[in-house]
Amino acid sequence: MKKTLDIRHVPNMQKARDRQAKEMILIRDELAIPHSLKAYAEGKYYYIRTYGCQANVRDEETMAGMLESAGFRHTMDYKQADIILINTCAVRENAEDKVYGEVGSLKSLKTAKPNVVLGLCGCMVQQTTVVDTVSSKFQHVDLIFGTHNILSLLDLLDEVITKKVRIIDVESKPGEVIENLPSVRNDKFKAFVNIMYGCDKFCTYCIVPYTRGRERSRLIDDILQECRLLVEQGYQEITLLGQNVNAYGKDLKNGTTFALLLEEVAKLGIPRLRFTTSHPWDFSQEMIDVIARYDNVMKSIHLPVQSGNDEILRKMARRYNSETYRQLVDMMKAKIPGLSLTTDIIVGFPNETYDQFLDTLKMVEYVQYDNAFTFIYSPREGTPAAKMVDDVSDEDKHTRFNELVEVVEKYAKQNAEAMVGNIYKVLVEGTSKRNEQVLSGYTESNKLVHFIGEDHLIGHIVEVKITESKVYSMRGELVHG
Ligand code: SAH
Ligand code: SF4
Ligand code: F3S
Repeated sequence: MKKTLDIRHVPNMQKARDRQAKEMILIRDELAIPHSLKAYAEGKYYYIRTYGCQANVRDEETMAGMLESAGFRHTMDYKQADIILINTCAVRENAEDKVYGEVGSLKSLKTAKPNVVLGLCGCMVQQTTVVDTVSSKFQHVDLIFGTHNILSLLDLLDEVITKKVRIIDVESKPGEVIENLPSVRNDKFKAFVNIMYGCDKFCTYCIVPYTRGRERSRLIDDILQECRLLVEQGYQEITLLGQNVNAYGKDLKNGTTFALLLEEVAKLGIPRLRFTTSHPWDFSQEMIDVIARYDNVMKSIHLPVQSGNDEILRKMARRYNSETYRQLVDMMKAKIPGLSLTTDIIVGFPNETYDQFLDTLKMVEYVQYDNAFTFIYSPREGTPAAKMVDDVSDEDKHTRFNELVEVVEKYAKQNAEAMVGNIYKVLVEGTSKRNEQVLSGYTESNKLVHFIGEDHLIGHIVEVKITESKVYSMRGELVHG
């Protein structure tokens, strides 16, 4: 029997551009759990598959918390699940293709087990065309809800189950700050803490400001309370999350800044404190000072450059040029000894010439990043760059991409090899997948290290001498105290 399609809200790119919220809307209501869903959840399992960035990972943790509050249990095996949620990313086309592939392959499971609820959420469904495609071509999807509708998850599931309907509920709006939702963290030692949501930067290639709403900060007391609890629970590392953490506090209009927040969290005594992502445009002197001053703020900064060419940076609307980026890097390196820098780079932005691309290579040579995430430009419908006529062939884009990867690897290798023979602090996260006697963990600069050691070290920070570099991972020996 074909289920009725109940369309509550559909995404609207025009509305998604709206930044007009008069004041921050803060929601602190207690989570209401429908009785019928509680009864249904008994003995049932949920499975969540997450694509994309840490914002989505944190959303997964919140959705897991909500589902467990209702009584569902977690499974790692989707075949065992009664509720399957696919938490999607829209940042590049290949991220979307993977989701379409996965949704398609779940059709046979839904035919065999029609009572399984299949839901699609996250950034991808914030786009009108995606919702149209999914609702028409993938009729086995029961529920589509957006990044602004997570709070309604339990009610939506309850309706899908009790009324046997398919529901689409994807709002496009500036967005709220929602506190007090339960969450189940994926990791026992490392935690992500949202400090803000959304993005107002509107880089011309990027879909995120449309999928996640306007920039809105959590109140500092709420963030500190969450971090305090994590310290009490024995967490070893906190990463403060935002699409652009430097903008933290601006919307609160009470003088709160990211530098101030970072310092307050550092003072709570978490052994390791990180943050991501910072935009090069408004990286303040105060932030650099706090990073330099506190031992527990990791000397590792992800500073996406995107391009080394001024004309391309201007067309990307990145608000800095190659010179100001270099100056920022110089100042950081001067003030923060041992700083590790990583970046994101896009090749093949519309009409990028080979000479413009060479400026990007020059930037990599100048900064000598420890690592760079490299992407071929992917047009995102509804963004200004997607309307630009592009004369660069796919072949040229791929050739440039390979050239870039080679230069990135040269410096990554060089920097990694310079670590050999030195001793670093490593947060031990677990045993290696291939060999139980081998422990794995990360240095302060986020380098993966494998070394022989005993299980009881898991969750602790130990000293390891690096013996061999494999560029993106290292081998080492435990230094006995
Ligand atoms: N807020 C973060 C980035 C989030 S997206 C920041 O500004 O740093 C992560 C990375 O994906 C970006 O830094 C960019 O390099 C890449 N990216 C975003 N949109 C893209 C597109 N349309 N095509 C290719 N890469 C893209
Ligand atoms: Fe996208 Fe730019 Fe915002 Fe980052 S800062 S999320 S690249 S619009
Ligand atoms: Fe992807 Fe959305 Fe993050 S588009 S990168 S999951 S904010």
